[in-house]
Order: sequence, then C-alpha cells, then structure tokens
Amino acid sequence: MKVKICKKNMKVIVCEDYEELSRQSAELIEKQIHLRPNSVLGLATGSTPIGTYRILAERNKTGVIDFSEITTVNLDEYYPISPTDPQSYRYFMNEQLFSKVNIDIDRTFVPDGSAVDPIKECIEYEERIDRLGGIDIQILGIGVNGHIGFNEPDLSLNAYTHLTDLTPSTIAVNSRFFKSEDDVPKKAITMGMASIFKARQIILLASGSSKTKAVTKVLEGDIDTSCPATLLNLHPNVIIICDRDCLPN
Ligand code: GLP
Repeated sequence: MKVKICKKNMKVIVCEDYEELSRQSAELIEKQIHLRPNSVLGLATGSTPIGTYRILAERNKTGVIDFSEITTVNLDEYYPISPTDPQSYRYFMNEQLFSKVNIDIDRTFVPDGSAVDPIKECIEYEERIDRLGGIDIQILGIGVNGHIGFNEPDLSLNAYTHLTDLTPSTIAVNSRFFKSEDDVPKKAITMGMASIFKARQIILLASGSSKTKAVTKVLEGDIDTSCPATLLNLHPNVIIICDRDCLPN
C-alpha cells in the first residue's frame, strides 16, 4: 500500500488489489464508528463496496464493531422499483450488510423507489439527512463515466437529492445485474452533488481498469462536469482508495 498526499484536501491510498482496498476502507469506517458510535454513515451500492461490507459484517460478528447506534443513509435508488425487488438498492443493502450486522433497520435509509410522489420523497430525504446532523463519512463508488451516486455527466451539477434520468451508457453498464437492458429502470432518485458535499468526509472507492479514465481525470484536478467525480477536488476532506489496476500504467 502506498499513501500519497495529492493536495491538501485529497489523500490517495493505492492498494495492491481489491482485497486490500476493501480492508483499507473497512478500517476507516471502523475507526469512525469507534470515534463516534452513533455516527451517520453514507453508503453506496455497486460491486465495489461489497468487500468492505463483508469485512464490516465479519468485524461485527467478532464484536469489534457495534452498529447498534449507527444510522445509515444511502446515496441512491432506481425509480421506479419496489424495495423488495432483488435489483433494488434497498434489497442489495439488506443482503450485503444490514441483515448481517446488529443495526436497527429503522435507522437505515434508502430513497424509496416506490414513492408515489418521487419529488416529495427527494425533498424529505434531503431534510432527513439534515435532521440527522449530516453525514460523518460518505462512501462513494464511481461509474465508468465518472458518475457519483447517479449524478450523471451534466452541465449543471448543483442539485440536492433529486429524480434523474440515467444515461444510455449507465443503463448499458448496469444491465449486467438485470435480465436485459430493457429491464433497467430509466430513472433514479439520487443524492445530488450538493448533498454529497455536505458530508464531513468522503471516501471514494475505485477498482479495476474500467475506472482508469474517470479516476485519472479526478487526479488531474481539473473540474469537468462531464466527469462528475472531478468535483470532489473541491471538497475539503476526500480519501481515494484505489487498486493498481485502476491507475494508468
Ligand atoms: C451504480 C451506482 C453508483 C456506483 C456505480 C459503480 O451506478 N449508482 O453509486 O458507484 O454503480 O458501480 P460498481 O462499483 O459496480 O462499478
């Protein structure tokens, strides 16, 4: 593992492989929970954080981490989708983490993909984050096109939690989890970049060569709304944990 301090606000941890990446991110979350047992954790879906959640569940089982006072808020959810649909992010979180740790399920929040009024759901979701006192540590993955949550490349990226259209490229990439591309919901409710920026600390996880282009752009430091993750260069406290495969040779 190599730690590079890129800029004052950004630390980059380069790991040998995915397993080490997962250990490093789980460790940071563990430290946060020990520091503040009633932390508010911002969580992400996608395949990248799965290893982190596996390790957190193991550490919970062995009594090293206690989730009993933890609150979680997830970044995003497809729309429309039922929370019981195996493709929903609520289902994913229950499977990968919540059912495996001693968390109070009533303190786990994922945008409601079955909300009749999605705009109202977005407003209430954002208000909830504020009522909770904000997010202590936000885990992020990164899309192949540089999206964060479901903040897709766009000219304006100043939104709070909102309903968004997925780009054809994201629908194509995410179709690997569905029977066909046609089955992928075309919209999502996502925290906006403005919501994400309220988090006190951000951990971005990136693994594999499909992410090289997007991660390289973030590390170059220019702000470019066609790669939303580059906006993280403006946040005061970001840690990027990536593996070798995702860095350029
Ligand atoms: C989805 C999620 C993102 C996630 C991205 C990357 O689109 N909305 O939050 O970061 O996928 O997923 P993966 O980790 O599987 O590459």
